[in-house]
Amino acid sequence: MKIAVVGTGYVGLVTGTCFAETGNDVICVDIDAAKVEKMRNGEVPIYEPDLDVLFERNQRQGRLKFTTDLKSAVDHADVIFLALPTPPGADGSADLRFILGVAKDLSGMISHYTVVVDKSTVPVGTAERVHEALAKNLDESLFDVVSNPEFLREGVAVDDFLKPDRVVIGTNSEKAEEVMRRLYEPFVRSGNPIIFMDIRSAEMTKYAANSYLATRISFMNEIANLCEEVGADVDAVRKGMGSDSRIGKRFLFPGVGYGGSCFPKDVQALARTAGQNDYDFQILNAVMAVNDRQRLRIADKIEAYYGDDLKGKTIALWGLAFKPNTDDIREAPALYTIDRLLAAGANVRAYDPEAMDNVKELYGDKITFCEDQYAALEGADALAIVTEWSAFRTPDFGRMQEALNHSVIFDGRNLYDLRRMVEAGFYYDSIGRGVVK
Ligand code: UDX
Repeated sequence: MKIAVVGTGYVGLVTGTCFAETGNDVICVDIDAAKVEKMRNGEVPIYEPDLDVLFERNQRQGRLKFTTDLKSAVDHADVIFLALPTPPGADGSADLRFILGVAKDLSGMISHYTVVVDKSTVPVGTAERVHEALAKNLDESLFDVVSNPEFLREGVAVDDFLKPDRVVIGTNSEKAEEVMRRLYEPFVRSGNPIIFMDIRSAEMTKYAANSYLATRISFMNEIANLCEEVGADVDAVRKGMGSDSRIGKRFLFPGVGYGGSCFPKDVQALARTAGQNDYDFQILNAVMAVNDRQRLRIADKIEAYYGDDLKGKTIALWGLAFKPNTDDIREAPALYTIDRLLAAGANVRAYDPEAMDNVKELYGDKITFCEDQYAALEGADALAIVTEWSAFRTPDFGRMQEALNHSVIFDGRNLYDLRRMVEAGFYYDSIGRGVVK
């Protein structure tokens, strides 16, 4: 099929590349001419595992192209995916300027039957607004609007796209349903479902799924904090709970709160939608409040440990990205940790395998960026771990102790076995498991 993807952010680029991989003819459109030029020259603008291989192959074979010219992409396409940013506006609701702007442009451009797909996470009712914008200069027989929310996790987005747990399609048109079924069938050969539903339910599904996952995280963070108070070990509690098949083992890890480009924004947007409908969604308010507090948990622990003496201390920081296998620092707990440490007069020596350049842009020389994880420890009074990169999981504890001034670790991701830390002689404070010394 002939596809256009408008917006080459991380969702658009993964979508376009993966559809090319199953043999479709894909043109990706972006207004950023410099970025388009780079992509034409084979440069992948984001770090996402496996994307480079698929990108190179499909570009070489002529199935993946890039342009700034929306009209030529529209002329080419039978299906147009809108993968545009929906940043939170001043009032917390998703800002639809980009999506509705492009819908308006499309209205004057489409000249044959086209399925226009909302891929971005958009509030319930957006597809109807896209429909209205398209219908301004366009006969309704020439298009259908479909909602097809993405469930891609950064760091495994390609895998999530190629092997989805499910595909959700919201449409009221049989013709569009057939087009979407043909597009997605190659990805669900294993038998996972393509779930068709009405448009509003599809839009709601995305928010419900992400908000539920965020709720699980905030819930576990509160359980962990309470475990510290009552002397329980949240790791054991998590396993005990997660073995109940109604609960499930995944997504129960307490830590320094959720971050990234989706959860914070989506929970806020759903709460806002509730508010606009005069519905007081109490759980969501608590989920957000708990997360605001939890992302400062490590800084709180450090401040409590040093009391008034944090000024002038040097803290090594392992991990800056909001989670491993990405360079994304949007809403990263590390940034909140850094701000608190700097405000208290501490020095920060940071290391992250991928995200340091992005953090440099924000902090310049206010913190020291180190070449590797051990270099970050040199002369530091303590280590704080904020992101669970695999390389941090089995470090050389002896080498760590040589580099650190004091054997003190604050671990926001529960990476190490408690007994191991006792044997190694660390002061070790993690999340929901008590302190070992
Ligand atoms: C998420 C959703 O998973 C994806 O389906 C959606 O479309 C986009 O948002 P992503 O933001 O890439 O994906 O990250 P994810 O792996 O889901 O983690 C989100 C946050 O939750 C991270 O900050 C992570 O550290 C945190 N988390 C996750 C926990 O604190 N504990 C867990 O058990 C799982």
